[in-house]
Amino acid sequence: MTSPTLTPTRIGDPVDRVDGVAKVTGQARYAAEQPADRLLYGWVVSSSIAKGRIVAIHDEDARAISGVVEVMTHVNRPQLPRFDHSYKDALCVPGSPFRALYDERILFNAQPIAVVLADSLEVARYAASLIEVDYERETHNTDFTVALADRFVPQDKRSGFEAPKNRGDAQSAYGAARCKIAADFHLPTHYHNPMELHATTVVWEGDGRITVYDKTQGPQNVQGYLSAVFGFSPEHVRVKNPYVGGAFGSGLRPQYQVYLATLAAKMLERSVRVVLTRQQMFSHVHRPEAVQSVALATDPSGRLQAIINDAATSTSRFEDYMETVCDWGLMNYACENASAEYTIARVDTYTSGDMRAPGAATGMTLFELAVDEMAYAANIDPLEFRLINYSDKNAMDDTPFTSKALREAYAQGAAKFGWSRRTPAPRSMKDGRELVGLGLATGMWDALFRQMAVHARLLPNGDLEVATAGSDIGTGTYTVMAQVAADTLGLPIEKVTATLGDSSLPESPAEGGSSMAASVGAAVQVACRAVAEKLLVAADQIEGQPLGGARLEDVTLAHGRIALKSDPARSISFGDAMSAAGLETIEVEDTPASRSGSSGQSRKSRNTHSAIFAEVKVDEELGVVRVTRIVIAVAAARIINPKTARSQILGGVVMGIGMALHEEALTDHRIGRCMNRNLGEYHIPAHADIRDIEVIFVDEPDPEVTPLGVKGVGEIGIVGTAAAVINAIFHATGKRVRSLPVTLDKLLDS
Ligand code: MOS
Repeated sequence: MTSPTLTPTRIGDPVDRVDGVAKVTGQARYAAEQPADRLLYGWVVSSSIAKGRIVAIHDEDARAISGVVEVMTHVNRPQLPRFDHSYKDALCVPGSPFRALYDERILFNAQPIAVVLADSLEVARYAASLIEVDYERETHNTDFTVALADRFVPQDKRSGFEAPKNRGDAQSAYGAARCKIAADFHLPTHYHNPMELHATTVVWEGDGRITVYDKTQGPQNVQGYLSAVFGFSPEHVRVKNPYVGGAFGSGLRPQYQVYLATLAAKMLERSVRVVLTRQQMFSHVHRPEAVQSVALATDPSGRLQAIINDAATSTSRFEDYMETVCDWGLMNYACENASAEYTIARVDTYTSGDMRAPGAATGMTLFELAVDEMAYAANIDPLEFRLINYSDKNAMDDTPFTSKALREAYAQGAAKFGWSRRTPAPRSMKDGRELVGLGLATGMWDALFRQMAVHARLLPNGDLEVATAGSDIGTGTYTVMAQVAADTLGLPIEKVTATLGDSSLPESPAEGGSSMAASVGAAVQVACRAVAEKLLVAADQIEGQPLGGARLEDVTLAHGRIALKSDPARSISFGDAMSAAGLETIEVEDTPASRSGSSGQSRKSRNTHSAIFAEVKVDEELGVVRVTRIVIAVAAARIINPKTARSQILGGVVMGIGMALHEEALTDHRIGRCMNRNLGEYHIPAHADIRDIEVIFVDEPDPEVTPLGVKGVGEIGIVGTAAAVINAIFHATGKRVRSLPVTLDKLLDS
C-alpha cells in the first residue's frame, strides 16, 4: 500500500474518487445510518392546511400505543428563545426564520406540527397516523400568478443582494427599433430531490454534549445554529456529515429535521433520529417559481440595441429569498441599452432557496430562450447571433473578466456537435417519422473563492492527512483535496487521507456556489507548502546539510524524498529529515486569518462560461421529445480532476434536461399543497431519458481567478441546458413553448 514507487499524483490527473469504494460497499455512513444507544425514532406529523391556527391536537390514541415515548408539540416542547436573531443561521435571508413547533400558527401546508417519538420507526409512524388535529383556517394563497399583483423590489441590503445595474435607455431604444421580440417565460417551482432524504441522528452523550449527524452542506453553520437556538455552548455541539447523498442547496441552511431531532433529544435527554419522508421533502426549501419578461431589439445587422429583462420569483410570507436572475443576460451580451427589474412575491409556502446555480439556472436559461427568438426574428444563425453580440468584458458591471474562453467553447462545441449540418428553417430536418432539431444556449456562473482553513499532518513514512470542517456533498471534494495535497508534497494519492464533515475541524464555509474545489484546493496547498518548509528546516539538522540550506523553490518533492533541482542526486528522505530534527510528525494549521493577499481584491469579474448544443427528436403525433445528444463545452480555467469535473457537468446537464422536459411541482391552490410530492409523479430524468452527453473543457489559463487558477464546476452544467433543449425543440417543430417544462400536451396543443 505504501509503495514509494507509485507515481506522484498531480493536479490535472483523472483520479478515481477516493471515497468510491466506501460508498459502493456501504461503509460510508450517512446521517440516518449512525448508530446510537437507546435511540428514539421521531416521525414528523405535517399540517393538512396551509394557513391558520392549531386549535387542538388529539394525541391520546397515539400515546396509548406501546412503544410510544412522547408526542412533542408546540404545547409541551422545551423552552425556546423568543427572538428571531437566535434562529438566524449564517446563510439566512431577511425576515423571520421558521421555527417548528414554536406556537399554534400554521404558515404553510405540510408544516411540521408534532413529532411522535417511539422505540421503533414503525411504531412512531403508526402512532402518528392516529393523531387528529383541529384547525382554525385562514385564507391562504399559493398561486404565484395571483401573488404577482403584490410583487415588490427587495430592499434589504444586508443579504448582499444587489439590484441589476441598468445602462443606456433601453425603453427608448426598444421603442425605436424595427427588429424586436418580447416574450414572457415561466419556470415552475422545483424541489431538490437528493437521493438521501433530509435526516438527523442526535447522539445524546449524557455529559451535556451532543453529537449531531446531519444531512447538511455546512456542519459549522448547523453547529452555530443549534448552539444559538438550544442554548448549548458551542463546544458541546459537534456536527458531523462525513458523507452527504446530494443536496443541491437544500442543505445550505439548517432544515427542520435537525431542529426537531435536537429539540426532542433535549426534551427526553435521549438520542433521537428524525428522517423526513420523500413527501415531506416537498414541504421545505425549493427553487422559486419565476416569471421573466424579456424584450430584445437589434439593428439590421443583428447587433443588440436593447435588452429589457424583468423577472419575479416567489418567496414565503415570512422571509425574503432573493436570487440573481436578471443580471446574467445583461452581463453576457454587448448592448448599450439594457435594463432589468427584479422583484419578489409572497406565497403561503415555506421559503424558497438556493437550488443548483440559483438565479442563473432560472435567469440565464429563460434569457437564452429569448435570444433564440431574437436570432430567428433577425434571420441570423443562433450561433452567429451570439458571436455578433459577444462581450469580452462583463457588460453589466463594465469590468474585465479574469478569463472568458466562451468564444473557444462555442467553436469547439460547434465543431464536435456538427452545428454546420444544421439547416436553419424549423421543421427542415427529419429522421424517419421524427422531426430533428438542433439548438444552442450559453451558460454562465460565478467562479467563487472563499477563505478556509486546513490542518495538515505528515508522518515520517510519508503518510499525510489533510482535514477541514467542510463537506463533500457528492461532488468529489475528498478526491480533489487529496489530489492537491499529493501534488504539493509529491506523493501518490494513496498516501493521503482527506477528512471532512466535522464541525470540530478547521474553519470552512458551507459547501456551495461551486466554491469548494478552488477554495479547499488553495487552502490545502498553502498548508502542505508550510509542511514542506518545515521539512526543509528539519533537513538542515542533518549532519553535513546535504541540501545545503535549500529553499522550497530550489527543491523537488517526490516519492517521499526532497531533492535539489540543481543536483537531483543530492536528496534526503522525509523520514531522515524528521528524525534528524527529532520530529514524529509535522503539523500545520493554516487559518484564513494567517493568510494575506487573497484573490478577489481586483475589480474583475470571475465567471465560468459554457456553450451547450442539443439535438432532439420529436414524434409529433405523440408529442414525445427525446434528447438524443448534448455537447457541452465548458470554460472553467484549470481542472483539478477531469473525471470528477466531468461527472459534475453530466449531473448538471441531466438536471437541465429535467428542467426542460420533466420537473414541475403542481400545487392544488385550494388546499395549498404540492400534489405530485413523490418521485412517481414529480418527474425527473430516468436513465432512458439520457443519451449521449459529451463534455469538453476548453483551455482557459487563468492564474488570477483563484490561487490555484481553478474555477468550480458544480453548477455551470445546469445553466442554459434547458434552453438548448427547448431551442432545439423549436427548430424541430416550429413551436415556441415558453412555460417550462415542455410536456407533450404543450406540443400537441396547436
Ligand atoms: Mo449550491 S445551490 O450553492 O448548493
